[in-house]
Amino acid sequence: MRILLVGGGGREHAIAWKLKQSARVSQLFCAPGNAGIASLATCIPIKATDLDALVRFASSEAIDLVFVAPDDPLALGLVDRLEAAGIRAFGPRRNAAVLESSKAFAKDLMRRYRIPTAAYQVFDDAGAALAYVDGAELPLVVKADGLALGKGVVIAHDREEARAAVRDMMLNNRFGQAGLKLVIESCLSGPELTLLAFTDGRTILPMVTSRDHKRACDNDQGLNTGGMGAVAPGADLDEPAWRQLRETILQPTVDAMRAEGRPFKGVLYFGLMLTREGPKVIEYNARFGDPEAQVVLPLLETDLLDIVEAILDERLNQLAIRWKAGAACCVVAASGGYPAAYQTGYPIHGLDQVPSDCLVFHAGTRREDETILTHGGRVLGVTALGPTVGEAVTRAYEALGAISFQDMHFRRDIGRPV
Ligand SMILES: Nc1ncnc2c1ncn2[C@@H]1O[C@H](COP(=O)(O)OP(=O)(O)O)[C@@H](O)[C@H]1O
Ligand SMILES: [Mg+2]
Repeated sequence: MRILLVGGGGREHAIAWKLKQSARVSQLFCAPGNAGIASLATCIPIKATDLDALVRFASSEAIDLVFVAPDDPLALGLVDRLEAAGIRAFGPRRNAAVLESSKAFAKDLMRRYRIPTAAYQVFDDAGAALAYVDGAELPLVVKADGLALGKGVVIAHDREEARAAVRDMMLNNRFGQAGLKLVIESCLSGPELTLLAFTDGRTILPMVTSRDHKRACDNDQGLNTGGMGAVAPGADLDEPAWRQLRETILQPTVDAMRAEGRPFKGVLYFGLMLTREGPKVIEYNARFGDPEAQVVLPLLETDLLDIVEAILDERLNQLAIRWKAGAACCVVAASGGYPAAYQTGYPIHGLDQVPSDCLVFHAGTRREDETILTHGGRVLGVTALGPTVGEAVTRAYEALGAISFQDMHFRRDIGRPV
């Protein structure tokens, strides 16, 4: 099969690496890809949000299947556009991707179908939001409705902070359209857990759990980033805990989306908080997380293309997905300064010194002649496997020790229990 993968970060490198192991993949293209993906796929210089160019490329190159990995093209309706052109596409349609692209939609769905989540109100008027902030119990969580690159959430511990967040989003248009509507919710507490799942709209099969680290610096200090590292499994769940997740969150979510006429096919990401009253949904994403994909996919035993096709054919109930025993850890090497201003274009040293059983997924890199250069905030994700999370962490840091570039920054506490 001729496959086009859309995206160009560490997540897409991990997906490309896994797809490439399928005997049925004859040719893999990636748009736009990066210097690491280029060793596995033919990279095409088309942006992931250039829907016209992607559909044109898929048609003219007789692509059999397009795997849409990032949130933006899903929210823009790339899957719908490809299907309309007669091309098979993996990922939710636009009317299902809204589960991620509108937090207000997601909250209203959870309320209607009694899926556990934080209490909340939705506002599209700044005056009403400010009045609510004045009377509500603190702390308050203020969230931009739309996609905001992981920067649209403020946890406000006093009223002035909450008011400032409301003004910033609704009056100063800090996130453009994405912030014109807000969700204000109560603050939950407990450990966070990522649960990714494959679903064909009816059957939902969870992957191994994972846990990411969003803050730029050790001990969860500094600004929020796209993610500085992850481990899998992210928690040790016993069978009753799994059953509770399946019965109160996983199955109700896919059933709700189907009942709403928005069947969700693809990878569904549950951002969970394990509160004292049980697990609650913090948010949904409509795709693999990054860096979570970089620890979950290396533990997947089953052929990813088999799973993708079972989802497209709506026969996921006939598939048993197998996982490797053990654990994985991914540590992200970032450009110093990220997620604020940073420099790029520095040569990366030591890539050939990494132990052969470790994986180096490229996020922001480009090749110039024979040299790989930094080309983004997150540069590399170094992943290692081990019998336990602790050993996977040790191995990932050992592998990272071989790599260097100017201003390289990474967290030293990935995988430390919370
Ligand atoms: N209701 C809440 N209570 C406590 N913390 C929250 C709540 N909602 C969000 N958070 C924190 O904010 C982070 C980002 O929120 P999330 O809804 O996942 O938005 P996004 O990932 O789109 O930025 C979460 O990972 C969590 O740490
Ligand atoms: Mg999140």
